[in-house]
Amino acid sequence: CASSGDATAEGPKPLDELVVGFAQVGAESGWRTANTKDIQAAFEEAGIELKFSDAQQKQENQIKAIRSYIQQGVDYIAFSPVVETGWDAVLNEAKAAGIPVVLTDRAVDSQDESLYVSFLGSDFIEEGKKAGLWVLDEYKDATEPVNIVQLEGTTGAAPAIDRAEGFADVIRQNSNLEVVASQTGDFTRAGGKQVMEALLKSNPDIDLVYAHNDDMGLGAIEAIEAAGLKPGEDIKIVTVDAVKDGMQALADGKINFIVECSPLLGGQLVDIIKTLNDGGEVEKRIITEETTFNQEQAIEALPDRQY
Ligand code: AHR
Repeated sequence: CASSGDATAEGPKPLDELVVGFAQVGAESGWRTANTKDIQAAFEEAGIELKFSDAQQKQENQIKAIRSYIQQGVDYIAFSPVVETGWDAVLNEAKAAGIPVVLTDRAVDSQDESLYVSFLGSDFIEEGKKAGLWVLDEYKDATEPVNIVQLEGTTGAAPAIDRAEGFADVIRQNSNLEVVASQTGDFTRAGGKQVMEALLKSNPDIDLVYAHNDDMGLGAIEAIEAAGLKPGEDIKIVTVDAVKDGMQALADGKINFIVECSPLLGGQLVDIIKTLNDGGEVEKRIITEETTFNQEQAIEALPDRQY
């Protein structure tokens, strides 16, 4: 299904008169930093003014930023919702003000699909499934229980919910694969390290870490090394994102497999805004194309990795 823009009777606005407000989640990870840079660069290149705010991973800050964009009368609002629920009120305010909203990266959980024109981003359930498929294959000959710990993303965030769901859906095919502990590390390196330190103490026999992003996986590596164990060998690690630091750890053998989640959404977001400004139609859901990397593929891809 498709949505049309709100070009006025006078036709499209010149690009240098357009104003877009973007409410970002925060700066919690390498992925997020790359996403912010890409969006800012794309708008600069297009000659469209971008108002930018960083919510420091707090929903109330994002809601404040969106309200302020509504008050300022921006032409479009784009945002990456820190958590899935609780957006209907502020999105209804944007709708009442006639300001189209584009979701980037993360979804909202709302019954009312008219509250946004388009949702551009990854299929997080698919990402979780890809991680699960690697684990399923890696342990296909296992005859004993495989103890998995999961480092979850921010509680209530779409990628944390969906990556857990997709992974669980796949690994249930082998009853030896068991998630023995699952805790949030809030998508940060410090969070991943702290949770992993605690999990290593309470679970002496961990076989594999499934981290919902590279940063938490990198934090887990620090904790595993500090405990005198070898990440990638004594404890295998699977993550999501494929940012440079994650890819380096994969190439070094400290991570075993990474499911890509692309942060490069700026160009497509600019295209959506331009289409809406021209009065055109945009798809309600635009899914980012992504791949996966094993250790050899990471070595090959690293020299050209942009972020
Ligand atoms: O929403 C995308 C996720 O948010 C990325 O996987 C993670 O690194 C970021 O913090």
